[in-house]
Amino acid sequence: METPDLIGPASPLGYPAPYWFLALFKVLGFTCHAVPMNLAYAGLLLALLLRASGNEHARQWAGRLARQMPFIVAWAVNLGIVPLLFTQVAYYQVFYPAMILMAWPWLGIIPLLTLAYYGVYIYAAGFRLGGPGPTRFKQSAGWVSALLFLAIGFIFTSAFALMTNISAWPALWQQTSVAGAPLGIAHSLANPTLWPRWLLMLGLALTTTAAYVVVDTGWFAQKESGAYKQWTARFGLEVYSAGVVLFVVAGVAYVFGGWPAELRQLLFTNPVFMLAAISAGLPWLLILAQVRQGAITQGLAMATGLGQSGVLALNAISRQLAQNAELEKYLDVTGQPVQVDWSPMILFLVLFAAGLALVIWMVRKVLIAVRGPEP
Ligand code: HEM
Repeated sequence: METPDLIGPASPLGYPAPYWFLALFKVLGFTCHAVPMNLAYAGLLLALLLRASGNEHARQWAGRLARQMPFIVAWAVNLGIVPLLFTQVAYYQVFYPAMILMAWPWLGIIPLLTLAYYGVYIYAAGFRLGGPGPTRFKQSAGWVSALLFLAIGFIFTSAFALMTNISAWPALWQQTSVAGAPLGIAHSLANPTLWPRWLLMLGLALTTTAAYVVVDTGWFAQKESGAYKQWTARFGLEVYSAGVVLFVVAGVAYVFGGWPAELRQLLFTNPVFMLAAISAGLPWLLILAQVRQGAITQGLAMATGLGQSGVLALNAISRQLAQNAELEKYLDVTGQPVQVDWSPMILFLVLFAAGLALVIWMVRKVLIAVRGPEP
């Protein structure tokens, strides 16, 4: 196994928890991050485009999502911290060198995200119930935020592509350093997987947005008209189909256009990859069933949401397997020594359980509020 100089040295303390524990929470955390992140990533843009259309229901849906967007972004940011922590713990030898090489874009996420977050609040303030709708300024703030989210997603894609593309590091370091000191301006633009990977994530984000259209209608839009609910079922199906097409086209370009042959082999030997590729069929069929029956039902909407969570989880597992396979030549993340550090682990588990309970409590409160008083 080669260990090029730019890879960080292994910590003599070893991992503070077994690898399976770190990987489990990294994958679980990324799955949880993906749900709201996908809505900010593709949903906001879609809402802005639909606001510009003349369709009454489309504008109504756009307004609903815009009002929820400040909460969605808060969830995306908070839930992003979980996979970030576990990446830093389990993959520190490759995470830190890659993030030093592209330090400015990576740190740039903080101001970009802050601006995008303010923009989302300004845009959402234009949708006060009974109000005339967003002014031109508020509308522009929404557009700026949507574009910033696309840029942030691009930086994440670039960063995580660079983290495992170790063979590219020496050349990037030489091109972007002065007297051996990296300037932090490297990027993955020459990596052929970059654009397909970004589009793949965008396709996935569209499918999550579509599934959320159905969940929102089934569970949170009880006061909306029947015509609106019929429209959302058809709209959900159209958006889901578009997302699947983008996901498949970008996925083929990603795997066959940039992956090395040994990694591509994984696709055919490990069933998780195949499952991840075909899993989107289930939520699509569930949405189709609701279009056919002319209504979104709570049961099928819940099944659609759970099905989409499965799609995201399988995607998170397969990207983890691919990440490990890409690193395998240089680093065996699964075979590191372990010295369990109980106190932070217990604190994390307690806070995780408390956080989960709090989320369930908040969702229950929202459901009670949307149901309104009993007649
Ligand atoms: C709301 C704005 C955000 C957007 C649009 C966004 C978008 C993305 C995208 C597109 C990816 C997948 C990149 C790829 O591998 O191709 C990703 C991954 C990731 N994001 Fe976010 N993100 C956001 C906020 C955050 C924040 C604030 C954090 C951390 C505090 C975070 C942590 C992560 C981590 C750690 C991953 C990689 C997970 C893994 O590979 O296991 N994200 N994000």
